[in-house]
Amino acid sequence: MEVVTSSRPYHIVIFGASGFTGKFVVEEVARYAADNTGENRFRWAVAGRSRQRLKGVLNQAADRLAMPELSTGVDIIEADVSSKESLSIMCQQGLVILNCVGPYRFYGEPVVAACVENGAHYIDICGEPQFLERMQLDYHAKALERGVYVIGSCGFDSIPADLGILYTQSNFKGTLTAVESFLTISSGPEGSCGHDATWQSAVYGFADSSALHKLRRKFGHKPLPVVGTKVRPRGFVFFSKEIVQYAIPFMGSDPSVVKRTQRFLYQEECRSPFPRFFSFGLFSKAGPTINQIEDTCFNMMFFGEGYSEGTDPLQGPPNAKICTEVMGAEPGYVATVIAMVQAAVTVLKEKHSLPRRGGVYTPGSAFYKTSLIDRLHNHGFKFSVRSYEEPAKP
Ligand SMILES: NC(=O)c1ccc[n+]([C@@H]2O[C@H](COP(=O)([O-])OP(=O)(O)OC[C@H]3O[C@@H](n4cnc5c(N)ncnc54)[C@H](OP(=O)(O)O)[C@@H]3O)[C@@H](O)[C@H]2O)c1
Repeated sequence: MEVVTSSRPYHIVIFGASGFTGKFVVEEVARYAADNTGENRFRWAVAGRSRQRLKGVLNQAADRLAMPELSTGVDIIEADVSSKESLSIMCQQGLVILNCVGPYRFYGEPVVAACVENGAHYIDICGEPQFLERMQLDYHAKALERGVYVIGSCGFDSIPADLGILYTQSNFKGTLTAVESFLTISSGPEGSCGHDATWQSAVYGFADSSALHKLRRKFGHKPLPVVGTKVRPRGFVFFSKEIVQYAIPFMGSDPSVVKRTQRFLYQEECRSPFPRFFSFGLFSKAGPTINQIEDTCFNMMFFGEGYSEGTDPLQGPPNAKICTEVMGAEPGYVATVIAMVQAAVTVLKEKHSLPRRGGVYTPGSAFYKTSLIDRLHNHGFKFSVRSYEEPAKP
């Protein structure tokens, strides 16, 4: 693990710890810290604009986790997005900043800028493609120069989708040419829902989707080559024979993040599939109840096809199929915080396996050479191969 120093005393600083999601991140980090004590103990702090609210969060976590030491043993840093100086002071103290302050299109950029300028790695749980892609366009070169990793969308948007595709690729023996993914959320008697900030993030994103098209033109990307057949476009509502259910296209950041990862890997001379994703969700001002959270889980299935080893793609249609699955607990506030914290732990422990020496990355492009999938597996996610079909060997 990267070592903390007296001038940079924390492995992790949770910014926005008083928010709906931030509180769950506090609990997850507290659990991680409790397992990592002793001489090289894990050190962390919470940050936000109200000392009083942050104190309240630590007291609540102390009660919920039966860890009284949280009430007094965790440092508080006061930082406000509107104060550059406060962000700099925060970013000078942590090796990794977990940014839980959203919607990111309104509050995210000053935090990214402060991390890059002050040498702290940055991780968020953003699900807003426009913010994520703009940070890549505007901060990649600076982050690379400063040796800082900026890794967005490390929550449910879009770790299961992005790493699910990497897992599918790594388990396919040949050339995987297309993947389609289906997300199912199962809930208990009280149903499931998301918090208002996530809803707002999505609404502003849809309202401003033309700006995203303009932004993408600035990258000047050339189309990636297509091998085999492309995934057929789906209607707004369609019946999927794969999951034997009606489905709608996914409207979050997954397609954007996965395509950026696949472009990165292609540029790193890997092979590239072209995925499409489908989902739906509900939101409320109060957010989900504890019962709703405890009774909810997700399942994401990936249906891939391609050419088995030794088959020439020019000689006919794809001849091999794979079905993989990623499962986990409630997506918004349990799976998200596990993914975010394990992404941070991976940065701290496996920096040598991250690409180049800094830059702005998707989860897949940052972590494809690390053990993040294994770490997630050990923390309640399950990645598995459901089926694999290829032609019988002559
Ligand atoms: N990827 C995923 O799957 C996923 C899952 C869950 C959430 N999210 C995203 O996470 C973000 C947060 O969601 P949430 O539901 O936790 O929102 P929230 O409850 O509204 O929390 C927002 C946090 O931002 C802080 N904040 C607001 N303005 C600030 C400022 N000027 N300076 C410093 N801090 C400020 C708030 O602090 P105060 O307490 O002082 O008001 C609060 O801690 C959203 O963008 C959401 O979409 C993503």
